[in-house]
Amino acid sequence: MARRVGSSAGSARAISGGRHRQGGGAPLRVELGPRLPGKVAFITGAGMGMGREASLLFAAHGARIVVADINAEAAQETVELMRKAGGEAHAVLGDVAVEADVKRMIATGVQAFGALHILYNNAGVLWKDRDRSVLETDEAQWDRVVAINLKSVVWVTKHGIPHLRKAGGGSIINVGSVSALAGFTRAQDAYTSAKGALISLTKSLAIQFAKDNIRCNIIHPGIVETPMQAPYLTEALRKEFQAGIPLGRIAHPREIASVALFLASDESSFMTGAEVVVDGGFTAQ
Ligand SMILES: NC(=O)c1ccc[n+]([C@@H]2O[C@H](COP(=O)([O-])OP(=O)(O)OC[C@H]3O[C@@H](n4cnc5c(N)ncnc54)[C@H](O)[C@@H]3O)[C@@H](O)[C@H]2O)c1
Repeated sequence: MARRVGSSAGSARAISGGRHRQGGGAPLRVELGPRLPGKVAFITGAGMGMGREASLLFAAHGARIVVADINAEAAQETVELMRKAGGEAHAVLGDVAVEADVKRMIATGVQAFGALHILYNNAGVLWKDRDRSVLETDEAQWDRVVAINLKSVVWVTKHGIPHLRKAGGGSIINVGSVSALAGFTRAQDAYTSAKGALISLTKSLAIQFAKDNIRCNIIHPGIVETPMQAPYLTEALRKEFQAGIPLGRIAHPREIASVALFLASDESSFMTGAEVVVDGGFTAQ
């Protein structure tokens, strides 16, 4: 059984019977145990949103979490939530776009927990009010958005991979976006470009480090209910999004975290260089 960590983290359990049946009519029986026992995960942007949700879920499955964020209060809150629920977490503060900060945060995390097995490159910014069409972009804006969403992954992997190698392998999970898969009339060109480049970086890392038993995959979420979207989600826009998504709703952060858990765990042991779209069917239309 997995330990229960966090208010919304469910416990794993054996399921038998139910409506789903295997071909021969035998009851489906799935033994679910903790997916990440003994693992240490470095999660960027773990102070809020999907990063916090993944921290709670990974901890429920036995991982110890290095909570990396630029927001000290948010990071501490995530750590407290995990500790209250019996998980182990350590906050490291810094800007993921700055190499020296990332180097220090990774070193501190390894010092706290002795190893590193999972790098979850989740931190990102979506400034819909400032990041629009190339026609409106200025250099400072472009550089900052691309640094946080793309360059951060370079620093985390540069300084994290030596520890994954030392551990005999590991899993890197990058967070892209459906914005990288299609063009939209409401443009966010710096964000879109950064997320698009992450697809190429994901494949390059997957191929370079496969021989080290290090896998690297990317998740493309559709729209997810997090503090990132909150300032922009008017009732009218929410309705518009819901109407455009075949499953008829915006995702809960848990629905992305559970895919990240799968990619972090040995259940996805033959997956590397893959793109996993989690968008309620939006880009399948
Ligand atoms: N929410 C969505 O609809 C959506 C859709 C597709 C992709 N994504 C991607 O998912 C990821 C998580 O998004 P979210 O919605 O949970 O975001 P969020 O804004 O709710 O949380 C992001 C976290 O990252 C931290 N952060 C921001 N800049 C940082 C920096 N420079 N250094 C360190 N930490 C920093 C923030 O403090 C915050 O805790 C992002 O990469 C985002 O682009 C989000």
